[in-house]
Amino acid sequence: QTGYITLDAGFKNTGATKSAITFLDGEQGILHYRGYSIEQLAEKSTFLEVAYLLIYGDLPSAKALETFRADIKKQMMIHEDMKNFFTGFPSKSHPMGQLSCLVGALSAFYPESLNPNASEEEENKTMINLLAKMPTIVSWIQKKSLGHPVVYPKNNLGYIENFMNMIFGEVNDEKTFDPVVIQAMHTLLILHADHEQNCSTSTVRMVGSSNANLYASISAGINALWGPLHGGANQAVIEMLEDIKNDGGDADKYLAKAKDKNDPFRLMGFGHRVYKNFDPRAKIIKKACDDVLEKLGVDDPVLDIAKRLEEAALKDQYFIDRKLYPNVDFYSGIIYRALGFKSDMFTVLFALGRLPGWIAQWKEMRDNKEPIGRPRQVYVGETIREYVPLDKR
Ligand code: SDX
Repeated sequence: QTGYITLDAGFKNTGATKSAITFLDGEQGILHYRGYSIEQLAEKSTFLEVAYLLIYGDLPSAKALETFRADIKKQMMIHEDMKNFFTGFPSKSHPMGQLSCLVGALSAFYPESLNPNASEEEENKTMINLLAKMPTIVSWIQKKSLGHPVVYPKNNLGYIENFMNMIFGEVNDEKTFDPVVIQAMHTLLILHADHEQNCSTSTVRMVGSSNANLYASISAGINALWGPLHGGANQAVIEMLEDIKNDGGDADKYLAKAKDKNDPFRLMGFGHRVYKNFDPRAKIIKKACDDVLEKLGVDDPVLDIAKRLEEAALKDQYFIDRKLYPNVDFYSGIIYRALGFKSDMFTVLFALGRLPGWIAQWKEMRDNKEPIGRPRQVYVGETIREYVPLDKR
């Protein structure tokens, strides 16, 4: 503490705001959206209903949900000129870089979103527009990277079914609409929908606090999520499990590497800033993993390695002392892979799920008229000194 500035690197003990959206208890492993437990929502709700709950604060009536769904369905098409962006990306561009660029570019097609004094109704239209276009943008990113023709949204399909059809339509129909697969996608997207003031959500709120438009704020959040310490971990987990499999599948060897301070290797998908107990989402996703792989008859050797790693780590003093448990990213990639998504699309799927949470948090920050975010610092640089001409240096 120096004078009136309190330093808290990583904001480990600093609250940035008051929020009524998500309640998280890291010690107990509890997660609620607007007072409803994620266990109940994952089992009984749908992704769009949870999106409505997060953004507007209550579960919708049947009529309100129907209107919400219809408004979104009407906006799922993206402007044909956006195809120019896809042809501009090199073929190996990471989908997260494409996604943040395409979401930010939406303000070019919807300039009304740039009005900082937009009415609540106009702001709501922008939120609906983004919720509607995200699945189309995400699916076109995968299609373009595979060199496949894009698939357009269909008015007779639900939100998740539309997304799955745009991603896998005309490729593997029997799996695309399998009820177990559709339910697994609802569960996964619901579990990723919000998580209070995590790195990417804080980024969305910070950028939005300057009165930047929604698309710019969400684009910034996508970039923050990309990091392997955050949402990028779900792709890093699968790559780690593949490395362990290709190296003989010795879980203990990699556990030792994770504990070795001279080794930069971390057990990806393990540990959490807030959860010092099981991440409640990881438990549900692990169960969904078993269900989906069994239903699809997929026998993925990395699932066994993941389970062996988890079992060994939970008995290991280093992990016990540091309260390191599997987090949301540990098993999700195994399901996504079984469903046929490319591993570099996993974090994009995290963003698709987190979008309603980001929108809800951005809206709350605006509704609360929060001041522009502008933290202070403790200066530790040079004291004042005179300029030295170039010929004297
Ligand atoms: C998400 O915040 C959110 O809510 C995020 C999220 C959301 O929904 O938005 O939940 C999504 O980002 C989940 C986390 C995904 N990231 C990973 O799985 C990457 C691996 N995990 C770690 O890098 C780490 O656990 C973090 C980043 C998640 C948390 O880091 P912290 O809270 O800053 O903790 P730390 O890095 O200071 O670690 C504390 C100790 C250290 O050891 P010591 O210096 O005390 O000896 O635990 C060790 C770390 O070395 N440690 C690990 C470890 N995670 C922490 N050691 C080995 N493997 C790991 N995974």
